[in-house]
Amino acid sequence: MDIENIKKEFPIFNNKVQNNDLVYLDSANSSQKPLVVIDRIYDFYTKEFSNVGRSVHYLAVAATNLYENTRTSVQKYINAKEKNEIVFTKGATEAINLVANTFGQKYLSKGDEVLLTELEHHSNYVPWHYLRKSKGVNIIFAETNEDGDISIESIEKKITEKTKIIALTHLSNVTGAILPIKEITKLAHSKNIPVLIDGCQSAPHMKLDMQDLDCDFYAISCHKMYGPTGLGILYAKKKWLEDLPPYQGGGGMINEVKKEDISYGNLPNKFEAGTMATAQVIAFDESIKFLNKIGIESLIKHENELLQYGEEILRKNNSVKLIGNPKNKGAVLSFTIDGIHPHDIATILDEDGVAIRAGHHCCQILHDKLGLSASARASLGVYNTKDDLDKLNASINNCKKIFSR
Ligand SMILES: Cc1ncc(COP(=O)(O)O)c(C=O)c1O
Repeated sequence: MDIENIKKEFPIFNNKVQNNDLVYLDSANSSQKPLVVIDRIYDFYTKEFSNVGRSVHYLAVAATNLYENTRTSVQKYINAKEKNEIVFTKGATEAINLVANTFGQKYLSKGDEVLLTELEHHSNYVPWHYLRKSKGVNIIFAETNEDGDISIESIEKKITEKTKIIALTHLSNVTGAILPIKEITKLAHSKNIPVLIDGCQSAPHMKLDMQDLDCDFYAISCHKMYGPTGLGILYAKKKWLEDLPPYQGGGGMINEVKKEDISYGNLPNKFEAGTMATAQVIAFDESIKFLNKIGIESLIKHENELLQYGEEILRKNNSVKLIGNPKNKGAVLSFTIDGIHPHDIATILDEDGVAIRAGHHCCQILHDKLGLSASARASLGVYNTKDDLDKLNASINNCKKIFSR
């Protein structure tokens, strides 16, 4: 892969950040955007703008076609069976809330169990907590092992007759653990339990195949996939979208509205109420083209090499403690340094132009389990190089020097 040329496609790297070249190691939080995506938003607003799915004038029809083209591109990218299984949302958070809310409304009652894992991001815990408060649903957590991993056995152990849905991450945004989702889904389905996957961290780094995974729901965050903010995707099997009640009510999601009653629109309109993030959806087509141009196999190879290299140099660095050693790992290097708070690490690294994240990464349950209040996290994207990781290591050493004074 020609990283230098790929990097040139991202205008952010043309700028200095506090007089430094930018070493961006925060893609698990949000990725940078290639120029094709930025330009597409500009072009759409300057030459092609209209709302979609409403008016019949030329611009409206053209914009609607573009919007639907992205849906088809997403369907192909994730190998969903049907285009109408793709619902646009404002983010993965909204996608998960949509499922928790509608599935919860129809299928969950007091004493039922929702099975999560200790690895979950708050976006895949808080929506279920609402159901605990409103309906008396119990939340059960499958436990991580000391490697920060979740085995199929740890899931199996927690399944009971009361388990009504399993909702879990594909790739942990803290330990980098890649969960055996296909096997977990198979196990769940053998007990008639549907499965929701939080695919936020896997979607930018792994080959996605909904028909092969066979999960019921899969949530994706477009801003982590070199796409615009304000956009997410819910993949859901058609049977669920047909079965579940609408999430939000408003224009665009109805069929007929009478004083006495309302009937809802066809799929996926039933779940896309109000004016959608039109420009973002249309620009996301460019993100998919960008990813397709690189090719998922090349991307995986590049990021695996980087991850191995990053682990190697950080393990050699005596004061760095890497978090998690899962069987299969992706794109994330979380760590602590004894005696230095992660926020201090991130602040000092920032002075060297190295952008990482510090905090609990919206995973407080996992940090509690690890006995940590926070950690530092370097995460990888397509534009990163071994040189970036060397700079990370050098900046960590600089940080240690400052704190030993
Ligand atoms: C694992 C995981 N789940 C969910 C989310 C939330 O995604 P979004 O920002 O699209 O709502 C994130 C984002 O940080 C994440 O890393």
